[in-house]
Amino acid sequence: MILPVVTFGHDILRQKAKPVAEVTDAVRQLVRDMLESMYAAKGVGLAAEQVGRTESVCVIDVPRDAEKEDCREGNAAIAMPLVLINPEITAFEGRQRNEEGCLSFPEIGAPITRADKVTVDYTDREGVRRTATARGLLSRAIQHEVDHLNGVLLVDKMSPIQKMSVAGQLKRLQKNARAE
Ligand code: NI
Repeated sequence: MILPVVTFGHDILRQKAKPVAEVTDAVRQLVRDMLESMYAAKGVGLAAEQVGRTESVCVIDVPRDAEKEDCREGNAAIAMPLVLINPEITAFEGRQRNEEGCLSFPEIGAPITRADKVTVDYTDREGVRRTATARGLLSRAIQHEVDHLNGVLLVDKMSPIQKMSVAGQLKRLQKNARAE
């Protein structure tokens, strides 16, 4: 089922996700719905808050060819789509600065500084605890989605000047959220 994606201005996006105690069929259904919703919205990542939920769940699918050449080999060990339940980033390494967007901020994007490489501990759909290390765009997506689960949004990562340049768009989103 495709779920509507919540945009900036809705309070749910500021909520911290609650840990998933057990990967039940209901959690797996949420994962399926989130994947379907992410693909429908043509995104590369989606967190539970963005579909109005507070489980600690996010989904990611970064196309291999979207990744820079030097990151492809290392990231190839990580199967897509990547489903992260109760994710925790345990290591950050290096720096990258690239354009970043978010389905909750339609038509807004900005160069954002992130770690180049992260290691994330997470539970998969079978309830197995795993560890993955990613670089480049996939690393960026993991950092972005884990931020969502902590109530941290793209706008929080922008500089004051970047925020000023999209102030009108942000205001419009907030106004629309209030009207809903
Ligand atoms: Ni996002």
